Amino acid sequence: MTTTLVTGGGAGIGRAVAAELAGRGHRVLTVSRSSRSSLQADLSLMRETGRAAEEVAARTDRLDSIVLCAGVFAGAPEWTDEGLERVLALNYLSRYLLIRRLLPLVLAAPAGRIVLVANAGKYPDTLDLDDLQMRRGGRGIRVAGRTQFANDLLAVDLMEELRATPVEVACVFPGLVATAVLRDARGVPGPVRAVAAAAQRIFGARPEVAARPIADLADDPAATAGGGFVGPRLRRLEIPPRVRAEERRAAVRTATEALVNPWLPATPGPA
Ligand SMILES: NC(=O)c1ccc[n+]([C@@H]2O[C@H](COP(=O)([O-])OP(=O)(O)OC[C@H]3O[C@@H](n4cnc5c(N)ncnc54)[C@H](OP(=O)(O)O)[C@@H]3O)[C@@H](O)[C@H]2O)c1
Repeated sequence: MTTTLVTGGGAGIGRAVAAELAGRGHRVLTVSRSSRSSLQADLSLMRETGRAAEEVAARTDRLDSIVLCAGVFAGAPEWTDEGLERVLALNYLSRYLLIRRLLPLVLAAPAGRIVLVANAGKYPDTLDLDDLQMRRGGRGIRVAGRTQFANDLLAVDLMEELRATPVEVACVFPGLVATAVLRDARGVPGPVRAVAAAAQRIFGARPEVAARPIADLADDPAATAGGGFVGPRLRRLEIPPRVRAEERRAAVRTATEALVNPWLPATPGPA
């Protein structure tokens, strides 16, 4: 049976993607903090992300797809008890760690898929490698925006790494979708949040509608056709040169590996 992991599967886009894939006959495992998910974990914590990866691996030896939807928008940094900035940890580091830990299960599928639901090329490069945890302060769109850019880099890295395998990788901008993501945005002034949430409600697509192309990317070989950056209704998006830049990707990858390293399984050393 086709097995899919959906993070953020308890609400919003993730919940709709999980329902769509379950309707298509997938066995769907979901992870979020909510009891509506099959596994509960706070993915802003790397120890819980690592535990969730272990629990997934205990339940299946193959993942046909991973759809990463868990994420937040926030306008101010906040730090977890692991010393990591919470938005970076949830929106990016936990995705990186889950993929690193679960990739063998995706490679065990005949045609694995990894789908990052983010903003696919919409954000500029505002990642400060000298202050990834934003300890020097800073507020506003950059707090979440840099994590979206980091998803772009991760997607392109994975596309290159997995080119010779059957695994396809897509990074998705779902368009404006009517969910609670802006209403609940921490660190954004109340009136701004209210206006943004109203616009989202009025102009945003229904999550069930936004979920269909994302589900296609997870389970329809014709839809993925090599992966890439994808917008609403499966429209192909250009991958911007700032995301392709090899040197920048390598620097971000090195910094990321250093941050998640304590939660990666130890690689056996020489005998
Ligand atoms: N909605 C849009 O217009 C839009 C546009 C572009 C991109 N996106 C991206 O799409 C993704 C999904 O957004 P959405 O609109 O569906 O947001 P949402 O309705 O707020 O749902 C967010 C999901 O993430 C989970 N989550 C949040 N914090 C978590 C934590 N610490 N640990 C585990 N799970 C956590 C939530 O579950 P719990 O709270 O139960 O844990 C929920 O399932 C996000 O990455 C967002 O950046 C959305």
